[in-house]
Amino acid sequence: MTAEWETADDYSSYLRLDLILDAQRPLSEHHDEMLFIVVHQATELWMKLIIHEVEYAQRNVAADELGPAVKALARVVRTFEVMTWHWQVLSTMTPADYLMFRSRLGSASGLQSVQYRAIEILFGRRRPSILRRHPPDERAYLHRLSDRPSLYDEVVALLGRRGFEVGPVAWGKVEPRVVDAWLTVYRDPDSHWDLYELGEKLLDVEHAFSRWRFEHFQTVRRIIGRKRGTGGTSGLDYLRRAVDHVYFPELWEVRTRL
Ligand code: HEM
Repeated sequence: MTAEWETADDYSSYLRLDLILDAQRPLSEHHDEMLFIVVHQATELWMKLIIHEVEYAQRNVAADELGPAVKALARVVRTFEVMTWHWQVLSTMTPADYLMFRSRLGSASGLQSVQYRAIEILFGRRRPSILRRHPPDERAYLHRLSDRPSLYDEVVALLGRRGFEVGPVAWGKVEPRVVDAWLTVYRDPDSHWDLYELGEKLLDVEHAFSRWRFEHFQTVRRIIGRKRGTGGTSGLDYLRRAVDHVYFPELWEVRTRL
């Protein structure tokens, strides 16, 4: 039975460093493989925090508690910024260094990152075909997540509760009534301050995430050029399209319409 409150034994056991620091297992003898593994793992840890914060923000939006939601999203922005700096470390690896161990990766690719897909789904992206690449337990988790409203769905529902006439948003489409609602908010921020703040924070999230994707694209470009990805996509062309994705299109459209 767990005590009413548990206290840590010591630093290493509290942080489970036995597991974390034992998880770097290069498959080759090549010096730079450690860098490659650590940057991926660090990014996965930050993504774990992002999921935690986005789910918290989403619950708070659903409960009309916008203060805590905005605070959590501000942390998500900072976390993406830290993730983006990781590319600086990884880009010290030259194409020749990477080629020394690339073949050891087989078909392993960031394309199979379940947490990355979860973040996309939480932001509202629905792309069932890509989920086929995951093993059944991960696929089941991602399908469950896809069946729930996304963060942006909750934001649109909130606009509805505030009296705006909005229809549900669909991935890849700009919903005109949602644009109109944001237009009203952005034309008179003082009357809708909390929605205005939430809209801007969502755009900060989108902007920070796109900077991570752009730096991924540039790092890939300098390390493998136009080679195909280990995950089997065209590589750079695939990633260029990923850079161009927008998750909250109505918030971008509003910039043009104002
Ligand atoms: C040498 C460094 C890297 C190279 C050459 C590289 C290359 C690629 C390529 C070519 C793709 C397209 C899919 C494929 O065909 O494999 C991809 C996707 C991806 N990579 Fe990387 N990558 C690198 C580092 C990283 C790191 C450090 C992360 C952090 C977790 C990461 C996360 C991802 C994710 C999440 C995707 C899927 C993106 C999407 O579906 O939109 N990659 N990568």
